[in-house]
Amino acid sequence: MKRVVPRVTGRSLHSDTDESPGWGPAGHRPAGVAGPALRAVGLTRVYGEDESLVWAVDGVDLDVPAGQTLAVTGPSGCGKSTLLQLLGGLDRPTEGEVWLGGRRIDHLGERALARLRRRSVGFVFQAYHLMHELSAAQNVELPALLAGASPRAARRRAAELLQQVGLAGRARHLPSELSGGQRQRVAVARALANDPLVVLADEPTGNLDSAATRDILRLFDELRAAGQTLVMVTHDERVAATADRVVSMRDGTLADDTRLDGDGRGTRHGHGGGTGLGALLRWED
Ligand SMILES: Nc1ncnc2c1ncn2[C@@H]1O[C@H](COP(=O)(O)OP(=O)(O)OP(=O)(O)O)[C@@H](O)[C@H]1O
Ligand SMILES: [Mg+2]
Repeated sequence: MKRVVPRVTGRSLHSDTDESPGWGPAGHRPAGVAGPALRAVGLTRVYGEDESLVWAVDGVDLDVPAGQTLAVTGPSGCGKSTLLQLLGGLDRPTEGEVWLGGRRIDHLGERALARLRRRSVGFVFQAYHLMHELSAAQNVELPALLAGASPRAARRRAAELLQQVGLAGRARHLPSELSGGQRQRVAVARALANDPLVVLADEPTGNLDSAATRDILRLFDELRAAGQTLVMVTHDERVAATADRVVSMRDGTLADDTRLDGDGRGTRHGHGGGTGLGALLRWED
C-alpha cells in the first residue's frame, strides 16, 4: 500500500497562556474551537513489511464530541490500543488524520507532539505506569512540572487532585504502598494534572477487582459530569455500559456504533446519552 510520510511542522496546539486549573469543563475547550474534541479520518496503521503486513487500524472514521464518554470494545488484537495510541499522538498513522480540539495533530513534529501530549492528553493505562520511586503526590505533580508549572503550583494542583480522587491521606505513599485501585486513582489524578482536552484510558479497570472498578467508574462519572471528554478501551461489558456511547472494533475497523441510554441498553446510531453508571451499580448490588 501507499505509505504517506507525515509532514513535519513546528506548530503546537496550545499557546503558553491557555492552561487553566480545575476539575471541570472550563479549560477543556480552547475558545473558538468548533466541532468534535477528537476526530479520526481514514485512520490507518499498518505494522510490518511485505508479506507480514498487519492492518492494526484500517480506515477508521470517528468523531468524539466534547464531553462524550466513549467506550471502545472488541476482541483481543482488533486494534483498540493502536487506535487509542494514534488518537493520543503516542503513535503515528500510516495514513489518515487525527484532529484534537479542532487542530490536526498527526503531522506535528516530535517536539510539538510531545508537548501536545503533555498538555492536552491524559493517559491512563491498565498497568498504572506510575514512577515507583516517587510518592503519589510527586507522580501527580510531574506532568504539571514538565508542562512548565512552578513547583508550588504543581504541588497545589496535585494536592487538589488527590483530594478529589479520595487519596489526600496517601499523598506521601509510594505506589508500592498503595492498593491497585488506589494506584489507578493516582494515575487518573496524574492524567488530569494539566486539565487535558481528552482522557484516554486503555483497560483502566483491567487489573482491578469489582470494588476498585466501581471507584474508578465513579471517578469517570464525576469527570463526565464536569464535561471531560473520555475515551476508554475495555473488555468489560459492565464498564462499557457506563459510557454514553460504545464502538466495537473488528479487524481494525469500526463494526458497530451504539449510543447507550441510562440503563446501559443500546440504540444504534441513536441519540440517547446520559449515564449508565446506575446500571453498573445495580448489577454489583
Ligand atoms: N508494535 C507492533 N508491531 C507489529 N504488530 C503489532 C504491534 N502492535 C500491535 N500489533 C498488531 O496489531 C494488531 C492490533 O493490536 P492492538 O494491540 O491494537 O490490539 P488490541 O485490540 O488492543 O488487543 P488487546 O485487547 O489484546 O489489548 C494485532 O494484530 C497486533 O499483533
Ligand atoms: Mg490492547
